Amino acid sequence: MKLTGAFLVSALTLLLLTVTSTVNACPPSDRAALMEFKAALNEPYLGIFNTWSGSDCCTNWYGVSCDPETNRVADITLRGESEDPIFEKAGRSGYMTGSISPSVCQLDRLTTLVVADWKAISGEIPPCVASLSRLRILDLIGNKISGEIPADIGELSRLTVLNLADNQISGSIPGSIVNLKRLMHLELSNNKICGEIPSDIGKLSMMSRALLSRNELTGSIPSSLANIYRLADLDLSMNQMTGSIPVQLGSMPVLSTLNLDSNQLSGQIPTSLLSNSGLNILNLSRNCLEGNLPDVFGPKTYFTALDLSYNNFSGSIPKSLCSARYIGHLDMSHNHLCGTIPSGSPFDRLEASSFANNDCLCGMPLSTC
Ligand SMILES: *[C@@H]1O[C@H](CO)[C@@H](O)[C@H](O)[C@H]1NC(C)=O
Ligand SMILES: *[C@@H]1O[C@H](CO)[C@@H](O)[C@H](O)[C@H]1NC(C)=O
Repeated sequence: MKLTGAFLVSALTLLLLTVTSTVNACPPSDRAALMEFKAALNEPYLGIFNTWSGSDCCTNWYGVSCDPETNRVADITLRGESEDPIFEKAGRSGYMTGSISPSVCQLDRLTTLVVADWKAISGEIPPCVASLSRLRILDLIGNKISGEIPADIGELSRLTVLNLADNQISGSIPGSIVNLKRLMHLELSNNKICGEIPSDIGKLSMMSRALLSRNELTGSIPSSLANIYRLADLDLSMNQMTGSIPVQLGSMPVLSTLNLDSNQLSGQIPTSLLSNSGLNILNLSRNCLEGNLPDVFGPKTYFTALDLSYNNFSGSIPKSLCSARYIGHLDMSHNHLCGTIPSGSPFDRLEASSFANNDCLCGMPLSTC
């Protein structure tokens, strides 16, 4: 009798263990979606996909993790530049060809999709990613992805990071992007994106970083950008943007880096930009800006880089520049400035090249007047 009881207990325990371990495994549908995802990619050097075998995709599948409560796949993070020992062994950074399979859209609990810096993944972003309603991070930087940004991207109401930089994405920025209410980082640099920046981009009130350089963007800088209280880093350099610099940009509370260089911006430089003591890096080089440089520097001025070169600025160099607290790199070359370079300065090292190719500047470090 006792023996039978003990047997029953252990049999039950065994059954329970078996049930628990099956419950802990990822659902077969998630596993199948991952297998399709894997089949569309080819990673020849590191063998990271060799770990994608066995029935439980939640355990020891490289770059995959699951929600511990639901055992649904929540995170795919595959970075081609990594400190992971698997990379050390292979003695090289990652390389992958193939494309991102639409099967990824079946992983409807996904919060993170990072397939970054594999250099040669091509094809398009599956438009169905816009249906991954829990997605918070979409990072596909450093591949050869082409095609357009999915038109419905704005449906990803939880997205905080959209990083598609260093690819070959074309088309324009979808208007729906302004619906990404939680977006903090928008990085689209170094693609072939054309057209205008949506004028209501200022709706992205959580955005702290907007990097859109090295594209083919046209039109003017939307003044609504100035409504984004948290925006600290704005880079629109190396595009084909026209019009004048919105004066509102100068009164942004936390803006510290503003790169608008290599565009076709015209008109005068807003006074508020040079007097904004929070702005530490300002590059307006290679535009068509004109007029005098406002004489608004002061003891709070702190620029690690101030590049106004290759424009059409005229008049003299503002005397107040001398009262600045710090100016690291200064470049006023290739303009039409004239007169005496102010002396007694906060500049680290005044180099002649900072003032070269103007109309009639003189004084240190150029020739005496
Ligand atoms: C400013 O932009 C120009 C042109 O894009 C670039 O050559 C220059 O190095 C930049 N200046 C600084 C200080 O980064
Ligand atoms: C620069 O300004 C002068 C007038 O100050 C004007 O004649 C000239 O066309 C301008 N050049 C460019 C490239 O904008």
